Amino acid sequence: MSNLMATLIGEIERLPTERLFGRVASVRGLVIEIGGVQGNLSVGDRCQIMARDGRTVPCEVVGFRSGCALLLPFGGLDGIGLGCRAELTESAPMLRPSDEWLGRVINAFGEAVDGEGPIPLGDRAYPVRAQPPPAHQRQRVGGKLDLGVRALNTFLTCCQGQRMGIFAGSGVGKSTILSMLIRHSHAEVVVIGLVGERGREAREFIEDDLGEAGMARSVVVLATSDESPLMRRQAAYATLTVAEYFRDQGKNVLCLMDSITRFAMAQREISLSAGEPPASKGYTPTVFAELPRLLERAGPGVAGSGSITGLFTVLVEGDDHNEPISDAVRGILDGHIVLDRSIAERNRYPAVNILRSVSRTMPMCNTDEQNALVNTARQIITTYEDMAELIRLGAYRQGSNADVDAAIHYYPAIENFLAQRKDEATDLDAGYAKLRSILQTRPPDASESG
Ligand SMILES: Nc1ncnc2c1ncn2[C@@H]1O[C@H](COP(=O)(O)OP(=O)(O)OP(=O)(O)O)[C@@H](O)[C@H]1O
Ligand SMILES: [Mg+2]
Repeated sequence: MSNLMATLIGEIERLPTERLFGRVASVRGLVIEIGGVQGNLSVGDRCQIMARDGRTVPCEVVGFRSGCALLLPFGGLDGIGLGCRAELTESAPMLRPSDEWLGRVINAFGEAVDGEGPIPLGDRAYPVRAQPPPAHQRQRVGGKLDLGVRALNTFLTCCQGQRMGIFAGSGVGKSTILSMLIRHSHAEVVVIGLVGERGREAREFIEDDLGEAGMARSVVVLATSDESPLMRRQAAYATLTVAEYFRDQGKNVLCLMDSITRFAMAQREISLSAGEPPASKGYTPTVFAELPRLLERAGPGVAGSGSITGLFTVLVEGDDHNEPISDAVRGILDGHIVLDRSIAERNRYPAVNILRSVSRTMPMCNTDEQNALVNTARQIITTYEDMAELIRLGAYRQGSNADVDAAIHYYPAIENFLAQRKDEATDLDAGYAKLRSILQTRPPDASESG
């Protein structure tokens, strides 16, 4: 009960004591200029604009110019004209997640968008733009998290509280690998942010790919590509907020986001509207400041709480892995999973390029035997891929080099091991056992030539 009282008191303290309002002075593109209250506003504050047709349009302050506050709307601008009243609302946006959010689809404001009626609210408000826990109070990454995808479990083992990026060009299988994680991973709770997805795809993803079992332990935060940049950006923040709620309940949360690139693009649109000059590829400096602020919120919690393991997809534009967003995200995270178009083209899914992917916690969390297995398999892939061209052309003569002969022998089985159907579940132990059995078979003529 005292908890509830404290919540209520906090709530009352956050209520504004006076109502401030200004007036719309101009509208340019999507940007609304407000005069009258600019002295009371700061960047990130919220206003409600009363449109002529009676709607209220929520807006956020994104900057100031020549004595006016610049606002962007969360919705459409219809009905907003000169002189419309703009009321200042509570500044820090909050969500009130609860356990009953599991199985639901919400928007960036925490409102249900799955047509299953209103969503119950928890009794504690969580800020949408929270700070990550202080670095020195955070625990270290925990034990292994079973991701249910063989290629990742063995070659790119992920620990609880680790943050990884999934990098791929368009249509190489980012969303599909996420749907596998939702269904097959052993996380207690999964929070999925679908940011800037096409509406049709988001629906197919939720209805077909997640399935009932996946949905039962998941919360989906959705902002489709037609929504305003503020909504898309806030959906990314809200995803982390919901994950933080479950982390504070002591759960080991898997937080997935598709995609970080669309979050960066939303931030770029917001900053450009506010007049910030672009830096690299049109991305503004704020984009590169916001990325770590978002991604750092995933990770281990403080003592006594759970953890947020984060897997974030990055759309690599034009398959250029050095484009600025990929570069920035790679530097922030604890590992990257690269999906390769050439692998997808030969129909091996998930198209993980083992040699170009890294998990930075990897050697520490494995046993020596597991590390040895993985290293041997990596070595075989490296040797084979170095020689692949010659082998395919028939220019390599069997018997010229024992390592290459062995690689030719093992490679098809390893490729087969890395492939996994969407609906196929597997676990950590099964992965290592399978890899072990592959590497235990001896090349047929090894004894003859040796
Ligand atoms: N595990 C898999 N098994 C079979 N096919 C797959 C698998 N993963 C991906 N694909 C194929 O690749 C296509 C694209 O996959 P997906 O939509 O996941 O890519 P994406 O990287 O999310 O694309 P986008 O950049 O458009 O969001 C799928 O329609 C499917 O045909
Ligand atoms: Mg996709």
